[in-house]
Amino acid sequence: MTSTTAPAIEATGLVKEFRGTDGVVRAVGGLDLVVRPGEVVAFLGPNGAGKTTTLDLVLGLTVPTSGTVRVFGKKPARAIADGQVAAALQTGGLLRDLTVRETVELTAALFGRTTSPVPFLERAGIAHLADQKVGTCSGGQQQRLRFAMALVSDPDLLLLDEPTTGMDVRGRREFWTAIRHDAEAGRTVVFATHYLEEADAHADRIVLVSHGRVVADGPVAEVKALAASRNLEDVFLALTTDPATASTTTEGAGR
Ligand SMILES: Nc1ncnc2c1ncn2[C@@H]1O[C@H](COP(=O)(O)OP(=O)(O)O)[C@@H](O)[C@H]1O
Ligand SMILES: [Mg+2]
Repeated sequence: MTSTTAPAIEATGLVKEFRGTDGVVRAVGGLDLVVRPGEVVAFLGPNGAGKTTTLDLVLGLTVPTSGTVRVFGKKPARAIADGQVAAALQTGGLLRDLTVRETVELTAALFGRTTSPVPFLERAGIAHLADQKVGTCSGGQQQRLRFAMALVSDPDLLLLDEPTTGMDVRGRREFWTAIRHDAEAGRTVVFATHYLEEADAHADRIVLVSHGRVVADGPVAEVKALAASRNLEDVFLALTTDPATASTTTEGAGR
């Protein structure tokens, strides 16, 4: 990891529209977000809120319709080329016929590294699967493999899209322990989730998104207090059900 003072992520007025046969879908609708180095941020929202599209924009995998996004003060592609950002996404990126070990070796080779894959497999809790073909791994095991791959470049910013999908209870626990360890070492972590409990338990800060906009943003306790409720689930439902209600409820919530 390298030290830097620029925000890990700075998104300003970020908009992404998809043009389909039956009109325009506004996946991200004017999103403003600053993530500071060292934060562990939960990007929380229901299905279709625009979480994956936002992560894709941060990674430069898709181009914004309008607005800007900077990663450590750079264009996403530059930050990726500099090895500062890596991601574990929900789909793709895996070759079924390689073994788990070969997959991480190949990832390391792409970064010009000759380090052993073993430490990364260990940190992701899949060392025992090293010789297994990727295609025979479960969904949760493949998620851990994506995590191991993301660690190879030792990124300053780690983006995780619904990272624990398919993991069993033990897998989740090990995964979050590894993330906490990374965060303590100074890595910035942003994870998309629709699990309230995960956001509550593992993030320093919750950014609640609905209909492609930030509807609440702050420390977990603050987001809970917003709707004068002790139950994060109430806040979540109140803020994500109806966009009109959401923007009224959270006016002045601070971004
Ligand atoms: N490539 C695409 N083409 C058309 N619509 C898309 C595309 N990707 C996402 N969308 C739409 O944008 C919205 C946000 O999707 P997404 O970012 O995947 O949300 P989330 O990850 O929060 O579930 C959804 O309505 C989805 O159907
Ligand atoms: Mg998604």
